[in-house]
Amino acid sequence: MTRKVFAKLMALFVLLLVFETAAMELILRRMMAQSSADTLHEVGRDAIWSGVIALLIALPIAAWVASRITARLQRVMEFAGRIAEGDLKARLEYGGGDEISEMEKALNKTAERLGNSFAEIESSRRELATMLDSMQEAVVAVSADGQVRWSNAVMKKMTGTEIRAGRPLVHSVRAPELLDCIREAQGRGEVQYGRTSSLAPGRIFEISAAPLPEGGAIAVLHDVTRVEAAEQSRRDFIANVSHELRTPLTSIQGYVETLVDAPNPDPAMTKDFLNVILKNATRMNRLTEDLLALATIESPDYRLATQPATASGMVRDAIDALGGLVVDSGIDLQYAGAPDATVMVDPDAMNQVFGNLIENAVKYGKAGKKIKVGARALDNEIEFFVQDFGPGIASEHLARIFERFYRVDKARSREAGGTGLGLAIVKHVVQAHGGRVRAESELGSGTTFLFTLPASTEKRREEMPADSAARARVES
Ligand SMILES: Nc1ncnc2c1ncn2[C@@H]1O[C@H](COP(=O)(O)OP(=O)(O)OP(=O)(O)O)[C@@H](O)[C@H]1O
Ligand SMILES: [Mg+2]
Repeated sequence: MTRKVFAKLMALFVLLLVFETAAMELILRRMMAQSSADTLHEVGRDAIWSGVIALLIALPIAAWVASRITARLQRVMEFAGRIAEGDLKARLEYGGGDEISEMEKALNKTAERLGNSFAEIESSRRELATMLDSMQEAVVAVSADGQVRWSNAVMKKMTGTEIRAGRPLVHSVRAPELLDCIREAQGRGEVQYGRTSSLAPGRIFEISAAPLPEGGAIAVLHDVTRVEAAEQSRRDFIANVSHELRTPLTSIQGYVETLVDAPNPDPAMTKDFLNVILKNATRMNRLTEDLLALATIESPDYRLATQPATASGMVRDAIDALGGLVVDSGIDLQYAGAPDATVMVDPDAMNQVFGNLIENAVKYGKAGKKIKVGARALDNEIEFFVQDFGPGIASEHLARIFERFYRVDKARSREAGGTGLGLAIVKHVVQAHGGRVRAESELGSGTTFLFTLPASTEKRREEMPADSAARARVES
């Protein structure tokens, strides 16, 4: 029992004592005034009554005080129960200034502090979770016995499976390299590095796994598929360039050596040899020019010198410029119609596009005897096309022909003087203009190369009726 409550009870007993003493004094006085047997009897009776009355007064007061204390302690217990269940917003009403209310005050303060600490921890946890989810890397943490403690959103996205906390990682992820790396980090107690391609189809990841103090480990997975592809493409490119340069160079070297070694070379043979040397030198020149063109277009500093041109004008210009190519081949180069819509283009770059596509149609589709060049208007763009009626391209090659150095028939293309860079240049030029390029083909029926260019908004405004054009100007 607390001191103040004890003092209250003591005060009550003192009161009763005073009451009892006063009653006894009164009785004794009466005894002294009338000391007869009857009076003694009466005095005894009065003493009993006064004791009974004192008890009757004291008992309910004591019961009331005890029930109040019990009710307050009950509230404190309920409050403690709510805190234990995590309700840190619960508060006790206090008052009275005794020890119980002091305790209630202290408990409220503790609950408030706990609430603030939990809020801070929760906010840090959310910050950490947001940071982990916004990372490009996949992250997973496991406990000492290999159970997932947590993983970020990227991990779930990359693996395509729900990685549930509390379950063994091996149940969700079947990448032995990742599991080995984590196990080794746990075993050796130091960061381990690895690589896996079995986590998600077609993707390569670099793994770094670090041990955690209580025996678990945390693994970070970095997707290097693109880097790998770029590296592979760089290696392929160097190999292709070397090969393409070496072939004509070897040929030139061979013919020159023969001429140098021949004591009295026959003039006719010398001319033939020199022609071969010239052909190979031209080929090398063409290759370096194409490589340079490609490097320029792919460079981040590449800027188009654009100017407005109508689709129909572009198609007609292309046919006029390349008409000479078809003169001897007996191919009919036809204008297949084009809208007068305006597009913003770099004329030199566009000459390269039409030049490559029409030259290809002549080279590879001459059996069809006809080439159609035209354009049509789509929603917000103009689609240009070059169509031939030659042998066509098999579907397995169709998806790859825009790659640098890719040729369906290497020998035939090389024979025709091709380097395999033409369509790569076309693709990059069209993309630099904000368009897309594709090819459609059916074996035996021919091939159509199509590319889009955004329709010029300036022209569309000019084409609008006067009031709506004015409105467009205001809105913009
Ligand atoms: N119209 C077409 N019909 C059939 N095959 C084609 C056609 N156009 C291109 N190809 C195929 O696509 C390959 C790639 O063409 P691309 O223009 O890139 O290279 P190239 O013509 O061989 O060389 P370059 O254009 O650099 O002189 C060609 O080698 C050829 O096999
Ligand atoms: Mg070509």
